[in-house]
This record gives sequence, structure tokens and C-alpha cells, in this order.
Amino acid sequence: MPGYHVKYQTATVGGTDYLIRSLLNLQQYSDPQGEAELAGISSASWSLFGHIWPSARILAEAMHTFDLTGKRILEIGAGLALASLVIHRRAGDMTVSDWHPLSQAFLKENLLLNKLGPLKYQTGNWESANPELGQFDLIIGSDVLYERQQPGQLAAFIDRHAAPSAQVIIVDPDRGNRVGFCREMTGLGYDYTTRRANSFIENGEPFKGRFLTFTRSLELEFS
Ligand SMILES: C[S@@+](CC[C@H](N)C(=O)[O-])C[C@H]1O[C@@H](n2cnc3c(N)ncnc32)[C@H](O)[C@@H]1O
Repeated sequence: MPGYHVKYQTATVGGTDYLIRSLLNLQQYSDPQGEAELAGISSASWSLFGHIWPSARILAEAMHTFDLTGKRILEIGAGLALASLVIHRRAGDMTVSDWHPLSQAFLKENLLLNKLGPLKYQTGNWESANPELGQFDLIIGSDVLYERQQPGQLAAFIDRHAAPSAQVIIVDPDRGNRVGFCREMTGLGYDYTTRRANSFIENGEPFKGRFLTFTRSLELEFS
């Protein structure tokens, strides 16, 4: 027995059904080896990775049609990584990251459930250096700005893993840390635009939130 309960649900993205194993509810908690505690994950936030948050569905819908050509793509704070599964199905060059000790195991199970091949996974803790992670042309994330320290932490992490010319797309459900995050990113030299996401998710549920899009272009100067 793993010490937590799961459920199976279907998430439809762009008309394609994804069968997803998730935690039964946000009350689940199990950390028998203390791995989550060691990583800095509190018991109150342990279950957050194991739920498909509404912003994940919005990001996944966007990735169903997004131009992926030639891009190395990283999902940060991926949780159950729905957007990454969509990109992987489209044969994008995808890497999934999170800091939760169970995130990779759930990813493997969900790849099998959807008859998808292996997908790159790297632990990506925003609070520390992750030298193995590398750099990416497109960095995506959903609902990753819910704690006070996250704007600064996340902006610095993104900057360490963004290629010299890069785009960053975050779906945020109108949380209070959005403004601070945009300030941190502009301070690091990124231009940004925001736009309201659709008011409804594909499953008919209402959604209130935005796309935050940041870009940085390296202009080569020749003398
Ligand atoms: C609210 S959940 C969102 C999960 C998923 N992106 C979604 O929208 O369904 C926040 C995610 O960020 C991850 N996370 C939080 N703090 C982190 C950190 N310091 N480093 C890496 N991941 C982190 C959590 O493990 C969790 O998966």
C-alpha cells in the first residue's frame, strides 16, 4: 500500500482524451521516508502536485496547437504534467520537472495509461541550483505562484534555465503574486504581455485567469 489513495479521471484536451491517475483528493499525505520533508515540502502542500488544477487544463489546451518547431521545452512545477503529455503526444522536445518525490512516478504511470513512450524528467527545485537541467527555448507552467516567496524564486530559476533567446508562458488563476512575478521578470530583462484566458475550460467549468508571456531575445551585434 503506497499510503495514499488515487483516482482515475479523463481530461479532454483539443478533443483528445487523456486518462490521468491523480490523488483521490487534497487530503492525501504520505512521506514515510521523509523525502518530501527533506526537499522542503510541508505536509500542507504535499498533495498539491497530485491534482489537475484548472490552469493546467488551460495551458494544455494552448499547447495542443502551439508551434513547437525546433524548441526545447521545459514544464516547471508540472505536477501531473498534462500540458507536457499534450506536447509529448505531438512529438515536441519535452522535459518535465517538479520537486515532488512522487511526480515522476505519476508521470510514468500516466504515460503508460495513454500509450505514450518515455518522457524526459528532471527534478527541478526552484530554491536550488539544478546543474543537470540545462537550458530551454520555451518554459511553461501553470498555477505556480501561490506562495509569497515564489515570484523571486521562480523568476531566478527560470532565468537560470532559459536559453539566451527564450519564451516563458505561465497560466495564473489571478493569484496575488502575479504582479510581483512580472516585476521580477522584467528586472531580469524579459519583455512581457498578459492576456485573459478563455472563461471556460473545455470540460465546461468556468475559469478566471491569465496567460503571462515573457520573451527575451538575444540580438547578436557585429562590429
Ligand atoms: C498548484 S500545483 C500546480 C501543478 C500543475 N502545474 C497544475 O497546474 O496542475 C504547484 C506545483 O508546483 C510544484 N512546486 C512548488 N514549489 C516548488 C519548488 N520550489 N520547486 C519545484 N516545484 C515546486 C508543486 O510540487 C506542484 O506540483
